[in-house]
Amino acid sequence: LLLINSKHKSGKLKQAMDYALSAGGKRIRPMLMLEVIQAYQMDENLYLDIACAIEMVHTYSLVHDDLPAMDNDDLRRGKPTLHKAFDEGLAILAGDALLTDAFGLIANHQTLSDNIKIDLIATLSRKSGSQGMIHGQYLDLYYENKNIPLEILEEIHLHKTAHLLEAALMMGAIIAQPQDVSKWEKIGRHLGMMFQIQDDILEVTSNEETMGKTLSDVSNQKQTYVLHYGIEASKKAVDLHHSAIIDLLDSLNIDPFKMRNLMDQIYHRTH
Ligand code: IPE
Ligand code: IPE
Ligand code: MG
Ligand code: MG
Repeated sequence: LLLINSKHKSGKLKQAMDYALSAGGKRIRPMLMLEVIQAYQMDENLYLDIACAIEMVHTYSLVHDDLPAMDNDDLRRGKPTLHKAFDEGLAILAGDALLTDAFGLIANHQTLSDNIKIDLIATLSRKSGSQGMIHGQYLDLYYENKNIPLEILEEIHLHKTAHLLEAALMMGAIIAQPQDVSKWEKIGRHLGMMFQIQDDILEVTSNEETMGKTLSDVSNQKQTYVLHYGIEASKKAVDLHHSAIIDLLDSLNIDPFKMRNLMDQIYHRTH
């Protein structure tokens, strides 16, 4: 009976994890990692597990971000948020499990060397942990409803969004061309700032149906680029980051065509 019970319980946990993962995100982070590998003419299909691990960390961050104690949102990836579809306790645990399993997936990769796996795990941990994304999430929450200087806004955006995008590109480079990791980190920084400023713009110019998520920045009194700079200046900042990405891509010794295409798709994103 114990066995049946525990099977039943973890069945529900797995169902909740699958619900969050298969809800239909844009998959930008895994695509970025795989495109880096392809840009160096390597077979990206050998590293799908590593790409999944990044998406699992990203998905967990969204599950927890939507919780009542955080942004308290009801819609994510076009569906009810996990705590709405299941319950709050299960959403917390499914997030915990996605995060923890992600590192196991990297550790258990069959063909990568131990040194590379350690580098991948260290990078993902650094960029998503208390010095990375979580630091940004903490500031984002802490500075709700407070006036902040622009440096803090930059710090929030850099940490909550840019660092995981940096990690995606860097992890591709760790596998394909370790000398280029710091260049990809710079590209990821511009991409992440571009991505979050776009998100701030879309919060006010788009709608929940198109975005597939609750647009709650105003009601949560979040600090955003649009609030500080207005829409026109925010759009200019997006353009500047996009140009910097293109210049940095040109400085790498890769076949830039597909990566540039992906960056342009993100630049023109509508959701
Ligand atoms: C949403 O990220 C959270 C931010 C960092 C702005 P995405 O826009 O990549 O979300 P999904 O994966 O497509 O749902
Ligand atoms: C998302 O921050 C960043 C992370 C989840 C790490 P937001 O709260 O600004 O993003 P959305 O609007 O909920 O996707
Ligand atoms: Mg948030
Ligand atoms: Mg949110």
